[in-house]
Amino acid sequence: MSEPAINIRAHSAVAPEPLMSARGLCFDAGGQRLIDAVDLDILPGRCTVVMGANGSGKSLLLRLLHGLLTPSEGSITWRGRPLDRAARREQAMVFQRPVMLRRSVAANLRFALSVRGVRGPERKAREAETLDLARLDGLKDRPARVLSGGEQQRLAMARAMISAPRLLLLDEPTASLDPASTLAIENLIAQARESGATIILVTHDAGQARRLGDDLIFLQGGRIAETGPVGRVLDAPRSKAAQAWLSGRLFVPNTP
Ligand SMILES: Nc1ncnc2c1ncn2[C@@H]1O[C@H](COP(=O)(O)OP(=O)(O)O)[C@@H](O)[C@H]1O
Ligand SMILES: [Mg+2]
Repeated sequence: MSEPAINIRAHSAVAPEPLMSARGLCFDAGGQRLIDAVDLDILPGRCTVVMGANGSGKSLLLRLLHGLLTPSEGSITWRGRPLDRAARREQAMVFQRPVMLRRSVAANLRFALSVRGVRGPERKAREAETLDLARLDGLKDRPARVLSGGEQQRLAMARAMISAPRLLLLDEPTASLDPASTLAIENLIAQARESGATIILVTHDAGQARRLGDDLIFLQGGRIAETGPVGRVLDAPRSKAAQAWLSGRLFVPNTP
């Protein structure tokens, strides 16, 4: 089928096609429903923040969206088609605890490119550019495993960004980092955003959510308790779960 001469969607005020969608997404393990009937649309070029108490299912949701877990029910679409291996290569994830190869910093970056088939001069150029971007130049020959927590997380971000993914899934990338390391990671996230990446960011840090996020998804017990623009949800949460969490109380469902 040929493209229409005029792409009406591009010229209208209608919301853009989602990069990724989930419908009725469920994940069961150990006889429990851990992700429950999640519907979401991730819009291209935006940063969607995922918040919620420990154990609310944030990491599971990211793993499902990255295709690392198979949903028990429901579906995930990527650019209008079912999520498959090719789609996964257009995504990159930074885990809560980064796993480093037992090699140098530079070799960790090269590996991320070679698994995507980038070799030769292009690989060299991207490696140099990314070392510079993440300010890892001075550390490039150091074994990745001896880096400090902040440096490792910077390398994990650089490794995710080096393949220029359409979607970056970031699971608490600054948890346990000091303010300077946090700022360095936030700068990298902002740069990824500027170069066109769509971002899903799990964080407990409301300041970070405001600095980087557009849309917010608040999870409670594996369900979406609330969604909306970051500022609106943080300033005037409508769900009991988000209200309780933001005021520092623990929300126990089904209590008066
Ligand atoms: N493979 C699994 N089997 C059983 N329970 C799991 C599994 N993975 C995670 N869980 C449970 O699912 C819930 C959500 O986990 P997780 O997504 O890691 O929470 P969060 O990232 O929001 O802190 C937790 O109660 C956790 O113990
Ligand atoms: Mg988690």
